[in-house]
Amino acid sequence: DQPIRLGMLGFGTVGQAVARALQRRAHEIATRTGRAIVLHRVAVREPAKPRPVALDGLHVHRSPLEVVEQPDVDLLIEVMGGEEPAASAIRRALELGKPVVTANKVVMARRGPELLGMARRRGVPLLFEAAVGGAVPIIRPVQESLASDRILALLGIVNGTTNFILTEMTDAGAAFEAALQEAQRRGYAEADPSADVSGLDAACKLSVLASLAFDRWVPLDRLDVRGLEGITARDVQYAGELGLAVKLLAFSRLRDDAIEAWVGPALLPRRHPLAQVRGVNNAIWLVTEAAGELMFYGPGAGGDPTAAAVLGDVMDAVRRHAARLPTDSRNGSWPVAGVEWEPA
Ligand code: NAP
Ligand code: HSE
Repeated sequence: DQPIRLGMLGFGTVGQAVARALQRRAHEIATRTGRAIVLHRVAVREPAKPRPVALDGLHVHRSPLEVVEQPDVDLLIEVMGGEEPAASAIRRALELGKPVVTANKVVMARRGPELLGMARRRGVPLLFEAAVGGAVPIIRPVQESLASDRILALLGIVNGTTNFILTEMTDAGAAFEAALQEAQRRGYAEADPSADVSGLDAACKLSVLASLAFDRWVPLDRLDVRGLEGITARDVQYAGELGLAVKLLAFSRLRDDAIEAWVGPALLPRRHPLAQVRGVNNAIWLVTEAAGELMFYGPGAGGDPTAAAVLGDVMDAVRRHAARLPTDSRNGSWPVAGVEWEPA
């Protein structure tokens, strides 16, 4: 079978990790989807910039739309960030019937209804598991696994950078700025880290999660958002002396048919499960009518964990869309050819 050819917008922290994982996990990916999946074209702002993962062997463009338009791009990955030109590129891919995988919470929070509406009308997958919680599976559980249940409330830590900063301040007495620089060095922070610090990144994720959880759009401007500005190492230290931890929380619940939603710093008793979420980890606690309480936990940012979520979506999109993706006529591509369950 002809491989599925990916066009990828962005080759930064996440994009390079996706490229690495596609090579390292080529065998698993091919056997589990029934198709080989290869990176074919990328868009970056500065093609000549030195990068830990080289662009060798790829078609490199400066224009995201140019990548989308190429007939030899079967599926689009958007990992460049920001609202535009990302949203227009995603829109165009959907118009062309190309499945899209994005890690972009800004696009999903600001343009989600328009883009998801278009994806639904055209019958083309638009998947965004990596946009909330990094590697933590939370979109699919809320959209699919809990679809028959009723989510009543959610509370969580959904920004890895600020959780890393607070952990460094608590454990190592680090200064805010030094901890932020380390988060940037590790690839956790947004290109403009003020989005992390101000709570905007967490607010975008809350808007997406609450909209899915409560089945109605929860726009960003309806959220009450505060960030970590003004929190000092001394505040964190005093809280610790009182047995409390400072955490940047995101909360939403349905109350009398209205949705309450906020992001802000809060004090939690140190034994509270969310107080024990350390470093770059995220955790999301859901309260539902039928299942009761559920907790989702794991790395909320970083190249490799995020790439795992992106590629999980790519594989899902390939399976869902298999019949419409180019293939040669020798083999059907789904169900998976050649994968057999061996008796244990
Ligand atoms: P990044 O390191 O800043 O990389 C962004 C990439 O996009 C760069 O390769 C850049 O090109 C390219 N780019 C940006 N604007 C462009 C434009 N107008 N035209 C062409 N190329 C453009 O960002 P990242 O950390 O990988 O994050 C990417 C996305 O994933 C964002 O939406 C982010 O919120 C999301 N995300 C990130 C993480 C994480 O841990 N980093 C986790 C979950 C989700 P140059 O390289 O030439 O500058
Ligand atoms: N900057 C984001 C964070 C990346 O720190 O959580 C993951 O969405």
